[in-house]
Amino acid sequence: MTGTNTHFSTLQRLLHWVMAIGILTMLFIGVGMVSTIGRQYVPLLVTHKTLGIAILVLALVRLVVRFISGAPALPADLPEPMKLAAYLSHVALYALMIGMPLIGWAMMSAAGYPIVLYGGLRLPAIVPQSDSLHALLWGAHFYLAFAFFALVLMHLAAALFHGLVRRDGVLQTMLPGK
Ligand code: HEM
Ligand code: HEM
Repeated sequence: MTGTNTHFSTLQRLLHWVMAIGILTMLFIGVGMVSTIGRQYVPLLVTHKTLGIAILVLALVRLVVRFISGAPALPADLPEPMKLAAYLSHVALYALMIGMPLIGWAMMSAAGYPIVLYGGLRLPAIVPQSDSLHALLWGAHFYLAFAFFALVLMHLAAALFHGLVRRDGVLQTMLPGK
């Protein structure tokens, strides 16, 4: 991370917090939806698909904004292994924000299900129909969801460590203010 700014840009901060709420909602909707045998399954699935595709679009926008706007530099006295951990965890979070929706979309395509979002918007299949591919993608969507949740919790712990223990300004880079 390099840069002379003290904060992420307003657009980056807006995208970060809107997407954080959206992703946490998705993880809980996902688990809730597969745990129910009630009528709620259908509306939950439509919400899951629509919000998931919205997250994919926002993640791609965010990646472009990240390349254009950059990021504030981490504190110079932060140990190198922590800088590396921050970099690798951010890359993994971006990969999951883009990968999870794509895997969900591909998983439904492989099963031959119609991918219909709110408002009747129908998406095309992105992989051919195949039972073995569906099983593989189902497993990936399932296990990566738990990895995503674990990574978000570690990210939250790191943010609080910076904000409450080190008090080094890293948490403030993502908070409102100039
Ligand atoms: C950020 C994006 C996403 C996240 C975090 C996410 C997360 C989850 C989670 C946690 C589950 C429950 C897994 C389980 O306990 O079995 C799930 C299931 C599911 N997701 Fe996603 N998902 C995302 C995007 C998508 C998208 C875009 C689609 C389809 C277009 C999709 C389709 C599904 C389906 C069909 C299931 C149910 C699988 C089953 O019936 O076992 N997901 N997702
Ligand atoms: C689903 C939830 C979340 C996701 C997916 C997420 C994702 C990310 C990503 C990818 C970055 C790197 C920004 C970039 O370089 O473009 C970042 C930075 C940051 N996030 Fe989150 N975040 C989440 C939740 C949170 C929460 C709950 C907090 C704090 C309580 C937080 C605090 C921060 C801070 C302080 C930074 C800046 C860190 C730095 O510059 O090294 N995030 N987040």
